[in-house]
Amino acid sequence: MNFQEKDFIRNDKPITPAGRLQLHQEAPSNIALVKYWGKYPVQLPMNPSVSFTLNQSKTITKAKLIPLKKPAPQTDFRFFFNGIHQPDFEPKMADFFQRIEKYAPYINYFHWEIHSQNTFPHSSGIASSASAFAALAKLIIELEKKLFTEKNAELLLAKTSFLARLGSGSASRSVAHPVMIWGEHPEISNTSDLYAVQPEFDLHPAFQNYRDTIVLVEKGQKKVSSTAGHNLMNHHKYKDIRRQSAFDNALKMHQILQTGDIETFIELTEAEALELHALMMTSQPNYLLMMPETIRILHLIRKIRQQSHIPVCFTLDAGANVHILYPQNYQSKLDKTLFNRIESDLIKDHI
Ligand code: DP6
Repeated sequence: MNFQEKDFIRNDKPITPAGRLQLHQEAPSNIALVKYWGKYPVQLPMNPSVSFTLNQSKTITKAKLIPLKKPAPQTDFRFFFNGIHQPDFEPKMADFFQRIEKYAPYINYFHWEIHSQNTFPHSSGIASSASAFAALAKLIIELEKKLFTEKNAELLLAKTSFLARLGSGSASRSVAHPVMIWGEHPEISNTSDLYAVQPEFDLHPAFQNYRDTIVLVEKGQKKVSSTAGHNLMNHHKYKDIRRQSAFDNALKMHQILQTGDIETFIELTEAEALELHALMMTSQPNYLLMMPETIRILHLIRKIRQQSHIPVCFTLDAGANVHILYPQNYQSKLDKTLFNRIESDLIKDHI
């Protein structure tokens, strides 16, 4: 089913809750294999992306809701991270609430006290806006389920992704497992720019026990935010080439995940990671997020793959950290050949 924007609008009156409500949701992080890079207003992707959903790296969000006598003109909330009030995060969240008001006007019938925590180390530099906005979107849909009788599960899952997207593009893909596709592709059925979908096939067994070990080369805040990076794509000299390449790669990845062709998976996943960073290095102004340690690890991965025939490969997000992808049964071999040669902290996750 392909939903349109109007399907997500809510004009009917909610049920009046008897008293305070408590909501509790969690959402995982995800790692893109084919990257979302470049966007149009509002939060529409320049190209389709394909990701693996992670299992261990999550945001857990709880909210206490106090009903208001009349709806607030804008969402009335306070945000706490690890138990501490975080006024610095609130403007970005206020923008998000404003963007979703048309689709979830019922949020303004309450005062919200929102508490979040991550299962991965704070300021580890791994993308947390994806899991954070996906958890928040899930919380809002949990509320919608309580206040309305609408129970169309397919619509509500698409709407969760739709709302998450309005917080952070990659968050649209953090609402289901194990693979998500976001962005309309003429040759992949039911895809949409408005929300991410699960592919219409079962992931090939070759990928079902895949691991993602994240090397924290650089912890802390990113030097150039993803949003600034996306903006540089608007006038990028390789914009059209990139768009075409991402459409081709999304289709190829869609096939690989069905057929289990690990060799082509490795080739394509690494090509996408390097293409993302090549776009950063050729934008105006250009910038460089990989560090010497990033490059050392990329070479090491390729060397071990060649020498030991272990099907291990890398991908990168918009930072210096390396995501190392491999089938689970190679874990102990890699512990002895690769991970013992890395001094940075590791986060072990799986899809
Ligand atoms: C390189 O989703 O963080 O990780 O929509 O501005 O919040 P905003 O950007 P964001 O961009 C993620 C970029 C990426 C690739 C990807 O996850 O597809």
